[in-house]
Amino acid sequence: MAQQQTARQVRPRIVQGVRLHTVEDWQNFNLAQPGRDISPTELDMFRQRVPLQEKMRVLDIGCGNGRWTRELAKLGLGVTGFDWDSAAVERANSFPTLHPRPDYQVWDVMSQDPPAWIEPGTVDLVTFRYSLGAMKPAVVLPLVGTMLRAGGQVYILTDLDRKNVDDHTQLTPGLTEAKIRSLGKGWGHMEVWNFGLRTGITLAGYGL
Ligand SMILES: C[S@@+](CC[C@H](N)C(=O)[O-])C[C@H]1O[C@@H](n2cnc3c(N)ncnc32)[C@H](O)[C@@H]1O
Repeated sequence: MAQQQTARQVRPRIVQGVRLHTVEDWQNFNLAQPGRDISPTELDMFRQRVPLQEKMRVLDIGCGNGRWTRELAKLGLGVTGFDWDSAAVERANSFPTLHPRPDYQVWDVMSQDPPAWIEPGTVDLVTFRYSLGAMKPAVVLPLVGTMLRAGGQVYILTDLDRKNVDDHTQLTPGLTEAKIRSLGKGWGHMEVWNFGLRTGITLAGYGL
């Protein structure tokens, strides 16, 4: 029921002719994703922007098949991946790995009903890799803001939504420039940079 309400709240996204609205749309999208690794360039960019320490508590929101979640675990971080697509979570959980296996959980982050074990002020880092554009940032970011400990950060990588259906550089639901600018509202610190055709963002100091 919560998932159906969420699906109605979020504007349907059409990316390269693919409709991405409901959890079933995302199941089809996730099934079609190649199991490509994260590029070393992307990892370098992330590590330059986000100071890491071993065992940091990390939440990866919209983890899909767990591609990014696994990279975070390889870096020695204590990461839990969340997705509302239970089939993707199952695939992520059964992915063969030589490294410590991340935890995964099904959670519709738009439901505003986080798992009870996530205590406010205890999380070091929350990541949204190509997932925030599928959600309502004004609903999701305040929620994760309260989960972060002092000094904790949010890391976002997103496609830019140019409002152009023929834009073949946009592979996932993105954020418009105006929406990106508005993400800093309520946060003490915001950094935005270009990563090729994508945009990287960090936020810290929620409520400061
Ligand atoms: C483009 S995929 C990105 C997957 C992964 N982060 C990666 O980089 O490979 C976006 C993911 O967000 C998930 N998603 C969309 N809306 C969601 C919601 N309300 N709650 C949780 N996950 C959601 C989708 O199911 C999908 O797996």
